[in-house]
Amino acid sequence: MANRPLRSLELPIAVRNIALGGDVSMNIKTLLMRSGVPHKVIRKAAIACYEAEMNVVMHADRGTLRVDIFPDRLEFVVADRGPGIGDIELAMTEGYSTASEEAKALGFGAGMGLPNVLRNSNSMELKSVVGVGTTLRFTIAIDREKKEEV
Ligand SMILES: Nc1ncnc2c1ncn2[C@@H]1O[C@H](COP(=O)(O)OP(=O)(O)O)[C@@H](O)[C@H]1O
Ligand SMILES: [Mg+2]
Repeated sequence: MANRPLRSLELPIAVRNIALGGDVSMNIKTLLMRSGVPHKVIRKAAIACYEAEMNVVMHADRGTLRVDIFPDRLEFVVADRGPGIGDIELAMTEGYSTASEEAKALGFGAGMGLPNVLRNSNSMELKSVVGVGTTLRFTIAIDREKKEEV
């Protein structure tokens, strides 16, 4: 596995309005498209990034989303400052959510975000310190049916 990424991008996640969230994952998606990443991989990345970004918007105070593009994989790091997660296993449970009533009224807070990141990635690691913040890392493998330029 190559140790140096072909391309990297780190963007701040603006925690303002839930309804306006999603800019960062949109920008990451554009970069992946321009980098010739296969569509199947972009689809998974877009879902996982959106869920991770919205978790920062909904549950944290501020954060960043970073992607490193390697020939054989995408590596993501989403780091935030915020309340942290006391019980990781509970947070990973399908349907578990502490989202606000406001978020739920907008259709968020189904408790499927973290399970969806897991489902759309090849490896995932969630680390958190209560009262400090949370770091979510995930990797998505790039299977190339034929050789493409990145
Ligand atoms: N970055 C985060 N900071 C603090 N808590 C989080 C974070 N991400 C997830 N959580 C906690 O894990 C729960 C489950 O997350 P998720 O599966 O994405 O569902 P949802 O966001 O719909 O609530 C959240 O409701 C929240 O309690
Ligand atoms: Mg979520």
